[in-house]
Amino acid sequence: MKLDQETLLTRKRYNRTSIFYDVMDQMIKSDTRKTILSQAIGKVLEVGVGTGKNLEFYPSDCQVTGIDLSPGMLEKARIKANKLNLPVNLIEMDAQHMDFSDHHFDTVVATCVFCSVPDPIKGLKEIKRVCKRNGKIILLEHVRSDNPVLGKIMDILDPLTVRMMGPHINRRTVENIEKAGIHIQSVQNQGINILKLIIGEP
Ligand SMILES: C[S@@+](CC[C@H](N)C(=O)[O-])C[C@H]1O[C@@H](n2cnc3c(N)ncnc32)[C@H](O)[C@@H]1O
Repeated sequence: MKLDQETLLTRKRYNRTSIFYDVMDQMIKSDTRKTILSQAIGKVLEVGVGTGKNLEFYPSDCQVTGIDLSPGMLEKARIKANKLNLPVNLIEMDAQHMDFSDHHFDTVVATCVFCSVPDPIKGLKEIKRVCKRNGKIILLEHVRSDNPVLGKIMDILDPLTVRMMGPHINRRTVENIEKAGIHIQSVQNQGINILKLIIGEP
């Protein structure tokens, strides 16, 4: 896996964050994860699987492949996966250059990932490529606020959150999904309007 400078830096940040990620991250409620992941079917790819917080919520007949850039995050995910009665394959891989053939997965999932992928459009194009033509893309992402004042504050704080923990807080992910050529079927706010569930198809 040959990584550019920014991707290497992202990996380094998430290796550091992996130590306290599960305690610190309260952005997505377990109930929300459960509801969203009940829609997954068949061969599932989870991009940016992180510490594996979604794994327990997949229907038991799914075959899950999880990829992540950070060995530190994957190590935690492996501990969770080993306790589950679910076939899970965890692989260190860059979402911007996936090693899967075209149209391979029935469902592709990512939760709070495209805030961190250095070139989000490249990663989203890869999702489109590896998802089957009639497959489903499920993305839960936090985005830059539409509110002009809050949006500006997010722009100002962004360099700080990236350096401290890894994620950008001012990504325009819905627009990026469109730019990647994914057909958006629905966009739903999840409680707050900066956290969005986006359902699409390739
Ligand atoms: C905020 S965490 C979210 C983890 C998990 N999806 C969750 O819902 O808890 C972002 C994850 O994306 C991963 N990531 C960032 N850039 C990536 C890339 N280019 N390829 C694969 N994973 C990436 C990070 O290593 C990290 O585990």
